Amino acid sequence: MTTTAIQTECAESQETRILPLLNPRTRARRDVSKRIDNIPLLYAEMEGEELDRRITAARETLGDRVIVLGHHYQRDEIIRYADYRGDSYKLAQIAAARKEAEYILFCGVHFMAESADILSGAHQKVILPNPAAGCSMADMANIAEVEECWEILTGMLGDDAGIIPVTYINSAANLKAFCGEHGGVVCTSSNAPKIVDWAFKQGKRVLFFPDEHLGRNTALHYGVPSEQMVVYDPKNPLDFDDAEEQIEHSRIILWKGYCSTHMRFSVEQIAKARVDYPGINVIVHPECRHEVVEAADYYGSTEYIIQQIEQAPAGSQWAVGTEINLVHRIAQAHPDKFIFCLDPIVCPCSTMYRIHPAYLAWVLEAMVDGEVLNQVSVDDETAYWARVALERMLTLSA
Ligand code: 13P
Repeated sequence: MTTTAIQTECAESQETRILPLLNPRTRARRDVSKRIDNIPLLYAEMEGEELDRRITAARETLGDRVIVLGHHYQRDEIIRYADYRGDSYKLAQIAAARKEAEYILFCGVHFMAESADILSGAHQKVILPNPAAGCSMADMANIAEVEECWEILTGMLGDDAGIIPVTYINSAANLKAFCGEHGGVVCTSSNAPKIVDWAFKQGKRVLFFPDEHLGRNTALHYGVPSEQMVVYDPKNPLDFDDAEEQIEHSRIILWKGYCSTHMRFSVEQIAKARVDYPGINVIVHPECRHEVVEAADYYGSTEYIIQQIEQAPAGSQWAVGTEINLVHRIAQAHPDKFIFCLDPIVCPCSTMYRIHPAYLAWVLEAMVDGEVLNQVSVDDETAYWARVALERMLTLSA
């Protein structure tokens, strides 16, 4: 069976998209400063082969002083340099365990690099090649909003509120610190059932942020009925009839946040895949809407998706509901299976896509020269409490 090349029509998958201001007119203007946004012009304009040569040479010079971690959503041009690749959980574990490297070069997004900084040793430096690589879902909850939510909920429920805050790892360090300080915990898509199970046993209800969908999918897996779930919209807190009553009866309060990539997958796409390819296996990420997860055959983290397809027999067919770089890579790795993305025009995760080889070459060559660029460093107090929540997660999921 041959593998169909998977195409995306999304403009963001074009190489030039992440290296800003490269059209001739703006380039001429920017020549004056010799920098393009946050990357020197020299690197922004470098050809792929030259970048590869420089990255390889810098890595050879640095040797064991640097380890490169790559999230599964990174493009091939980056993932090929990763010493370790993984889902968010696996990369957090590696960051916590590999204490010997002086530099952890994190090819992922900001919240992952923050977690690595919190879990790594004080002597280690975590570098995010492009500081603009964030996560739009993580940005859907900030500390002021979470504190306001906490006040509203505890105000309604009184001393007996019994709320355990659980933050998805896709969140800023100060939200993890909030959870650490309030008896809560961090979870990832791979350990959410275990973590939420623990949280339910600690209190009366869970406040889950920032992903409404992972929270709902996990709570349903645990057996919580929909009537005991309340959606909290930080832009419009509990602005509906009988909010107080619903909160009182709630087992889980779901923050209204989402991943725009995973929101693209639909039940209709799954139905079409089943008509077009009878017997197909459908596998999706738990950031998808509940109806999509329910209509799929399997769901789980990026690592889980890779493993399931790897273990499947030759000739099996897979429709996958997650980010396109990963789907491409799995399809290329298994030419004996038929693998395609559920959404024919899905975009790459646009923020993950901001890590380009030009940034890698730039920060690695600076390291060789003894200069640390784009370090992600969480302040001590935030790191202390965030570590409590992250280490609690690592212990619970071990
Ligand atoms: P995983 O932990 O499954 O890799 O998911 C990370 C993520 O950000 C998905 O959007």
